[in-house]
Amino acid sequence: MVKILATDGIESSAAKALTELGFEVTQQFYDENELPARAAEYDVVVVRSATKIRKPVIDEAVKTGKLKLVIRGGVGIDNIDAVYAKEKGIEVQNTPNASSASVAELVFGHMFSLARFLYDANVTMREGKWEKKKYAEGIELAGKTLGLIGFGRIGRCTAKMAAALGMKVIYHDITGHLPENDPFAFVPLDEVFAKSDFISLHVPKADAPIISADAIAKMKDGVFIINTARATLIDTQALLKALDSGKIAGAALDVFDEEPIKDPAVYKHPKLSMTPHTGASTVEAQLRIGDDIVKIISDRFKK
Ligand SMILES: NC(=O)c1ccc[n+]([C@@H]2O[C@H](COP(=O)([O-])OP(=O)(O)OC[C@H]3O[C@@H](n4cnc5c(N)ncnc54)[C@H](O)[C@@H]3O)[C@@H](O)[C@H]2O)c1
Repeated sequence: MVKILATDGIESSAAKALTELGFEVTQQFYDENELPARAAEYDVVVVRSATKIRKPVIDEAVKTGKLKLVIRGGVGIDNIDAVYAKEKGIEVQNTPNASSASVAELVFGHMFSLARFLYDANVTMREGKWEKKKYAEGIELAGKTLGLIGFGRIGRCTAKMAAALGMKVIYHDITGHLPENDPFAFVPLDEVFAKSDFISLHVPKADAPIISADAIAKMKDGVFIINTARATLIDTQALLKALDSGKIAGAALDVFDEEPIKDPAVYKHPKLSMTPHTGASTVEAQLRIGDDIVKIISDRFKK
């Protein structure tokens, strides 16, 4: 019987479907010391973001030769040494399409929050305050320019939603202008910086930040930044400085250098709208991730 280990939980509908298809599903988290020996006993390991599949896990799995497939329920696979795993004959898969709409909707949650100070009003009203005047300078999203950096699955989904709200969308992607008939404007990166009222990041993890002090200097005064992609894409110190000076009017973060977040300079900042990496955390996305996992496993182990 094909044995599956789900270390960070798996949707109950997916666990049920896999069991009905004849797979044995174990749901158990192991710390990094225990994981290598345990993972080597399974044919498939399914992780979300908490479990890291690093070299020691792969090396131990190679010894038993049992582990054939690692699945990341989600988009980014930076918690898996995927290249090394593939070199050792272990397949790595993810569920890239399942959460795009959820992440894109969170971008708008944050944009509305920034535009109308909801992130701050919620805090001050809970303190019994009525700061109507302070929040009178809100703006509408309609008519504003949204600059997207990265025009893949989430970027494109965000663009369509923005267009429906009457925003003008410009984007930059390293692969250039993507679909031929795409109604959105591909522009150089510096033009995204110079022309956008809101800038939202939708690229994979990078070694050097795209939103650096230099990049911020090229932006409009009073720009808003939204990052639901990866924390390394923004130089956090440069962001805090620009928020303090007013160059950046407000920013929204769903991803952080350290998760859970520990730096009070970030989590106490009055101009930040924040969520604890919940971009993909919707009921619908979880169900789709579960469905995708069932499909990947049943396709791989077709009898
Ligand atoms: N917050 C969350 O919970 C959450 C959930 C899902 C995905 N994400 C993150 O969202 C990001 C985007 O996901 P996606 O599914 O749209 O990915 P995708 O692969 O579909 O799209 C990424 C796009 O970025 C482009 N790109 C890569 N490097 C670039 C660069 N330096 N400059 C400009 N463009 C560049 C690629 O060509 C591609 O078109 C990823 O970082 C992913 O990890 C976050």
